[in-house]
Amino acid sequence: MKADAAAVRAAADGLAAGALVAFPTETVYGLGADAENALAVARLYAAKGRPSFNPLIAHVADLLSARKLARLDAVAERLAAAFWPGALTIVAPRAMGCRVCALATAGLDTIAVRIPDHPVARAILTGVARPIVAPSANRSGHLSPTRADHVLADLAGQIDLVIDGGPTGVGVESTIVACLGVRPMLLRPGGIPRAAIERVLDAPLDEPSAMPADGPLAPGLLASHYAPRARLRLEARAVQPGEALLAFGPGSLPGVSQATRVLNLSVRGDLLEAAANLFACLRALDAVGTGTIAVMPVPREDLGEAINDRLARAAAPRGRAAV
Ligand code: TXA
Ligand code: MG
Repeated sequence: MKADAAAVRAAADGLAAGALVAFPTETVYGLGADAENALAVARLYAAKGRPSFNPLIAHVADLLSARKLARLDAVAERLAAAFWPGALTIVAPRAMGCRVCALATAGLDTIAVRIPDHPVARAILTGVARPIVAPSANRSGHLSPTRADHVLADLAGQIDLVIDGGPTGVGVESTIVACLGVRPMLLRPGGIPRAAIERVLDAPLDEPSAMPADGPLAPGLLASHYAPRARLRLEARAVQPGEALLAFGPGSLPGVSQATRVLNLSVRGDLLEAAANLFACLRALDAVGTGTIAVMPVPREDLGEAINDRLARAAAPRGRAAV
């Protein structure tokens, strides 16, 4: 669909209704979904064929909206003033009251935010008036798309709408900088050169690897995944006394009446619904304070691959990336 006023309206309406809409930004084409709609976000991961749930960037139209999602410290505000709208993504602590679903941030306490500088993207974001997550609109592992026909070549049939705004100007993804209290850190080089950022900050950007071996670690920063306090016991066929249970599907397990708490990812056994619920369920069970969360087997097909990937990471012995 050519990017005229009607297309922008169709995109905004579609996104608000949970559709997957690809649209141009100045960096690359993004595949948008309502960041507050966990089912839409689960469909987005499925459409991209991502084997794991990487946290996504929430796109908004203006600084006030960005501040509702993320706690921007003085450094982040300086970067925002200098580079937004533009090819800079800021990772910051999630703000109180931020309604972006846990699946979109992969369960992290931090969130990546960007105000894109493309008239079509901005018109859509203004129209929909809620945060839109948008990874690059390609199949996982393929190149990022810089034209609408690249998007169609990868995702035709998987998504609801493509807005064609012509070739993108920048052509590489946004630069990602984490502003998490310590020195700002370059997480991904991209459309805004490092030197331009360092000039604004009048200081060098840290590298993730430059962190002190025993220094304080921002949760999820290196590994970018959520680690519950509780131990996870995967492929559970029975519940042990004192365990919490993360269930999947209509079946039950021996010992379930002894569980401290039971949550079901999807009683129907639907993988989209399970993905949408995954991080929120893990957090809720972790909050009970149980030592161990038993996890029923989840099939490995479709989104099950990503669900099992995250469960395996959450169950892995704690390294320093998981404080
Ligand atoms: O230019 C871009 O940034 C494009 C356009 C569409 O905006 N989007 C894009 O999204 O490249 P994606 O999903 O392909 O890349 C997002 C990156 C991932 O590497 C992810 O790990 C990182 O952002 N990220 C997101 N949230 C994060 C967080 N809380 N902490 C650390 N990294 C995060
Ligand atoms: Mg990408």
